[in-house]
Amino acid sequence: MPGYVSTFQYQSAISHAPQFAPRSYRHFTVSPITGAMGADVEGIDLATASDAAIAELEQALVDHLALMIRDQSLEPAQQIAFANRLGRAFPWPFAREMEGYPEITELIQEPGDKYAFGGTWHSDSCNFEKPPKYTMLYCVECPPVGGDTGFSNQYLAWESLDPKLRAELEDVRTVASAELGYGTGSQDAEVLANATTKVTWNPELNHETLHPLARTHPVTGRKALYTCDSFTARFEGKTQEESLPLLRKLWAHAVTPEFTCRLRWKPGSLAIWDNRCCMHYAHSDYPGHRRHMRRIVVEGERPV
Ligand code: OGA
Ligand code: MN
Repeated sequence: MPGYVSTFQYQSAISHAPQFAPRSYRHFTVSPITGAMGADVEGIDLATASDAAIAELEQALVDHLALMIRDQSLEPAQQIAFANRLGRAFPWPFAREMEGYPEITELIQEPGDKYAFGGTWHSDSCNFEKPPKYTMLYCVECPPVGGDTGFSNQYLAWESLDPKLRAELEDVRTVASAELGYGTGSQDAEVLANATTKVTWNPELNHETLHPLARTHPVTGRKALYTCDSFTARFEGKTQEESLPLLRKLWAHAVTPEFTCRLRWKPGSLAIWDNRCCMHYAHSDYPGHRRHMRRIVVEGERPV
C-alpha cells in the first residue's frame, strides 16, 4: 500500500453568517445572490427614482456591497445624472472618455480583442489618494453567456484572518503604485496595441500612495482588507521582496470562494459596487462575442 502524503487540506466550513441584512425594502425588490454578497434589484427606474428610493438604494448597497439593477433604459446623460445623485461623477484619467461625456468611459471588447479590462482581482483605482467609492457599469451589449463580473467581500476577508495575524496587521500601511497597475510593464504591448478599450498610461500621473491595509468603511464602521496584486507594491518600510510572501497569502485569502459572488449581465442592467469593501474581476470567457459597458466612477474619500 502506498503511503500517500496529502499536499492539500480541505478548507474548514466558513462560519460567517449570511452577510445580507434581513431587511425589507419599500421601493424595489432585492434578491441576494450568495451568502457572502451581491444582489439583483428589480422594480426601480433609475431615471425617475425619488430621493427616498435613491437613499434606500444606497442602503441596499451598504447591505449587499454590489447590486445588479435590472431593466434600465439610460442615455449617457441620464447615467451621469444618476451617478451625481450618489456623489460626484468624475472623469477617469486612465482611459479615453466618451465623446461629449467626459465622466463616461466606454468599455468595449470586440470579438477579436485579447485585452481584458479589469481582468485581475482589484478594487478600482486603489492607487489614487482618494479612490472612487462606487463604480457603475451600464450594459449596452453583452455576450449571450459569459462575461460575468465577479466580486469578493473584503469585510469577510479581514474578519476571517487569524486573530493574531490581524492584530499584527491592524496598523500596517501599504504602498500602492500607479505604474504597477497601469504602466507599460503591466500589459503585453502587442495585446494593448490592438485593444479597442485600454488603460492609457500617463507617466505624469505616476505616483505612489500610502493606504491602510485594513480600511474602515465610513458608513458601517467595519474594517475591510484593502490590497490587490495589481496595485500594491509593498508594505510601508519594507522592500517588495520582503513584502511579497505575506502579500501573496493575503491576496489568495482575499478571494476565497465563500467570500464571492458573480453578477450576470443583460443589456439594460446597471451594476454598482462599493470599492471600499469589495474587490471585483472581469471574467473574459466569451471569445467571438462583443461586450459594451458604459462606466462611471463616483468620488470617494481618503481611506482610513
Ligand atoms: C471596471 C472593471 C469589470 C467588468 O470597470 O473597473 O473592472 O466586468 N470592470 O467589466
Ligand atoms: Mn475595475
